Amino acid sequence: MILGLPRGIGNAVFLPGLFDCPGMLCYKNLFSARCCVMHAIEVDGLTKKFNGFTAVDNIDFTVDAGELFGLLGPNGAGKTTTINILSTLLDATAGHGRIFGFDVARDKHEVRKKIGVVFQEVALDVKLTGKENLEFHGMMYGMAREERREKVKEVLELVELTDKADALVETYSGGMKRRLEIARGLVHKPNVLFLDEPTLGLDAQTRRHIWDYIKKLNKESDVTIILTSHYMEEADYLCERIAIMDNGKFVASGSPEKLKDVLGGDVVSLELEGSAGNLIAYLNDKEWIKTLAEHDGVLSLTLERGERRIPELVTAAQAHDVKVACVHLRKPSLEDVFLHYTGKTIRDREASQSERNRAMMRGRMGKRR
Ligand SMILES: Nc1ncnc2c1ncn2[C@@H]1O[C@H](COP(=O)(O)OP(=O)(O)OP(=O)(O)O)[C@@H](O)[C@H]1O
Ligand SMILES: [Mg+2]
Repeated sequence: MILGLPRGIGNAVFLPGLFDCPGMLCYKNLFSARCCVMHAIEVDGLTKKFNGFTAVDNIDFTVDAGELFGLLGPNGAGKTTTINILSTLLDATAGHGRIFGFDVARDKHEVRKKIGVVFQEVALDVKLTGKENLEFHGMMYGMAREERREKVKEVLELVELTDKADALVETYSGGMKRRLEIARGLVHKPNVLFLDEPTLGLDAQTRRHIWDYIKKLNKESDVTIILTSHYMEEADYLCERIAIMDNGKFVASGSPEKLKDVLGGDVVSLELEGSAGNLIAYLNDKEWIKTLAEHDGVLSLTLERGERRIPELVTAAQAHDVKVACVHLRKPSLEDVFLHYTGKTIRDREASQSERNRAMMRGRMGKRR
């Protein structure tokens, strides 16, 4: 390690082929202490098809070392499939994924040493204690006894489970199990941690606690985290950058603030009684309205200084014989960003995915009969 250079740079300087910089972001001056920084994760053209159905559709992204990156999307968007490919559990149909330069299809062994995974489904041995689960994981990774003990102690402290370490996992609450899984993902000191729906099914308070652990982990260690979620507020709170995924594609990406800024200003929602009629066409011509979407009898508009425009909007509705039952004013959320890019709310998408799954099941059952 060359002292004075940022983390990883000293090692990178002597890598063969450095100046071709595959998977690296190059800076002009080698000695400006910012010569080459390798992306922790690099994905290009990643595609996965299941029997002709495209679950992941030609996605590209990079994640910097130490970054907390989120894949946000409704049920069936393709988040888990993406994680499974990047964690070497599934082969892509096309495209590439690299973890610190190692190809997830070709260099599976190297990749597995670099990553930790917390799966969407609980994957603990409930007949073992919390500590035993962690010890066993460390043994599977060939960690020496002393190193293992030290690390197990450290990760138990991180997720505040030290006092429960010797209790059987079957006595843990849902939130404690999730914390233990996060701890397990960290035992073998991975450089990259995949968290697939880390708070799925947990109550709001427990979810908040898990968020705190994830934040702390990201702040206090140099592990790169990629998490998936379909909770918009989770991604908003935790992630430095996110990619919004829908039907296997990325529909938008950037920091939560930047994504919300695209909508600009405030969101005014008009709850209508009856149809919007010609009101939408009328409002579409107004240059002060940045975005406009109608959904389930609610007209959502983004505009600057929303509170000043409300009277004008209500008057316009009256002039077009549209009755307004209620008006809401708020700052844009990622839910609005999703609606803006997909024309649907995340809940609608989930409902249509459930319908697709039911139709698939009906098809299968029909074939069996
Ligand atoms: N092994 C498989 N065979 C066939 N289809 C699959 C398979 N695995 C996933 N799919 C389909 O691929 C799509 C993406 O699934 P995936 O599990 O990646 O979604 P997700 O974004 O993780 O959703 P969730 O939020 O529900 O976890 C879904 O339509 C799913 O039904
Ligand atoms: Mg999933």
